[in-house]
Amino acid sequence: VAFDFTDQVAVVTGAGNGLGRSHALLLASRGAAVVVNDLGGDRNGIGVERSPADDVVAEIEAAGGTAVANYDSVATPEGAAAIIASALDSYGRLDVLVNNAGILRDKTLVNLTHDDIDAVLDVHLKGSLLVAQSAFRVMKEQRYGRLVHTTSVSGLFGNFGQSNYGAAKAGIAGLSRVIAIEGARYGITSNTVAPNARTRLNEELLGPFAECLLPEQISGTVAYLASRECSVTGEIYSAGGGRVARIFIGLTQGWFAGKGEVPTPELVAAHLDEIRAEPGYIVPTTLADEMRILAEVLELDEAST
Ligand SMILES: NC(=O)c1ccc[n+]([C@@H]2O[C@H](COP(=O)([O-])OP(=O)(O)OC[C@H]3O[C@@H](n4cnc5c(N)ncnc54)[C@H](O)[C@@H]3O)[C@@H](O)[C@H]2O)c1
Repeated sequence: VAFDFTDQVAVVTGAGNGLGRSHALLLASRGAAVVVNDLGGDRNGIGVERSPADDVVAEIEAAGGTAVANYDSVATPEGAAAIIASALDSYGRLDVLVNNAGILRDKTLVNLTHDDIDAVLDVHLKGSLLVAQSAFRVMKEQRYGRLVHTTSVSGLFGNFGQSNYGAAKAGIAGLSRVIAIEGARYGITSNTVAPNARTRLNEELLGPFAECLLPEQISGTVAYLASRECSVTGEIYSAGGGRVARIFIGLTQGWFAGKGEVPTPELVAAHLDEIRAEPGYIVPTTLADEMRILAEVLELDEAST
């Protein structure tokens, strides 16, 4: 059965270009009423322009879909609130938030200006948090919601010259996991996509990959995570070039010095292979999973932890 978003309302931030545009077009083609948010700056976050959001709304309407433009910035509390208010004012509810807006200010750590740091953290990390907070308040009342955030392997795996961006993007993955835990009791899921696609952000960096990495190849994963059918929460998916994979954070079995023992630097060095050994790792879903393991090695009564 084809996934259907009829009678659902989706907000896609940064939907005037690239990936956000593609996500908005797919969700609208499947019946969602879409708030197309875009501030309309350049890829460094300079300037404002209404036409990117307006053009995507026109494209959706020309295809028979329903959409409204919003030009607020995700990076301020007022902007974030206005983006979500636009969904409520236009369509009376909110089912899906895709946190996608983003900019780049790539420089090596020593060359970053304070403005490069603030701009990138504000749009990606603070923006994702603020819009999610406004959306969550509505979804909690509705007892239903789907949040999809956008991280990057630049932060999760690391990439030269992207310390501001990598920090912000890794922060978004942490944000999503906490929202997943807080949302569970309200029927709210929160998942994250790490995309790889040719857009104005990276088109000169992709070399031979450029022709193979289409924005449309990301949107199906986003729409799955945004759908009623989505059966996962707190997870991270890598998507690009037609391939989809799960990224996870694992915890090794580790080394135990003994109850009451204090691991010295020398002991840590001596046991480093054991500490780092991957066989038998687990994939925690909350911090309680690690505390359970600690309770076991400390022989504590789990009920009292
Ligand atoms: N393209 C990739 O391969 C790739 C890889 C990893 C992560 N990402 C992430 O995917 C997301 C989309 O990027 P893209 O490649 O489509 O870039 P893009 O530049 O084509 O689109 C980003 C959009 O966000 C908008 N935007 C920027 N600041 C905003 C703000 N404060 N408020 C509202 N809108 C704002 C821009 O105007 C732009 O239209 C970003 O979060 C980016 O970091 C992209």
